[in-house]
Amino acid sequence: GRPRDLAGRHVVVSAGGTREAIDPVRFIGNRSSGLQGLALARTALVRGAGVTLVAANVTLPAPAGAEVIAVESAREMREAVLSACRDADAVVMAAAVADFRPAEYHDNKIKKTSAEPDPIRLVENPDILAELGRRRASSGEGPAVIVGFAAETDDVLANGHAKLKRKGCDLLVVNQVGAGLAFGTPDNAAVVLSADGDAVDVPRGPKEDLAHRVWDLVAARLP
Ligand code: C5P
Repeated sequence: GRPRDLAGRHVVVSAGGTREAIDPVRFIGNRSSGLQGLALARTALVRGAGVTLVAANVTLPAPAGAEVIAVESAREMREAVLSACRDADAVVMAAAVADFRPAEYHDNKIKKTSAEPDPIRLVENPDILAELGRRRASSGEGPAVIVGFAAETDDVLANGHAKLKRKGCDLLVVNQVGAGLAFGTPDNAAVVLSADGDAVDVPRGPKEDLAHRVWDLVAARLP
């Protein structure tokens, strides 16, 4: 068994994928199942943490004992994460957050006509992870340990290190996407990069194993 090394700690985990509404029936979404975020929540509970799970469109059941805040869009996730992070020791942003949303929401279902369809104009969403990093850098408030995820297909280490710096996080879990990994599968493989320059390779295995490796690295960085 693992030690209850997160006892007395409060951690925030985001899971799933955000949906950005176009009209009452349509949205722009992504393929995140929420499995990795659920594994992080479950393993944190096992290790004794109090867990707030900010779940975006996760259909699988949340682990018993987690406080669940259900959200749909990136802006809703931002509100929930920032408020849960006020008294958190660590945050892990495992959710796939939409970088863009439709510039306007149609109150009525968009109808099919014979005319050329209107393009959907996009605007940028807030970057929640980057905001957590900025807030901590400017005022010292928020979690002591900030962890992001990134799905990269090429130049994994170079892109990962640049992203870690840009977002101001302490750890970045860089997923290798494709080949039966990551989205919707029980397995994952990753390199966990840290702000101090370390790179920990986590070979292909259950998402629970990667989750434990992440908490090992988080626990070592908690004051
Ligand atoms: O930039 P990219 O989307 O690859 O970054 C991924 C990381 O940033 C994930 O941890 C994700 O949860 C977080 N993110 C965020 N807000 C966004 C986009 C991504 O917090 N708008």
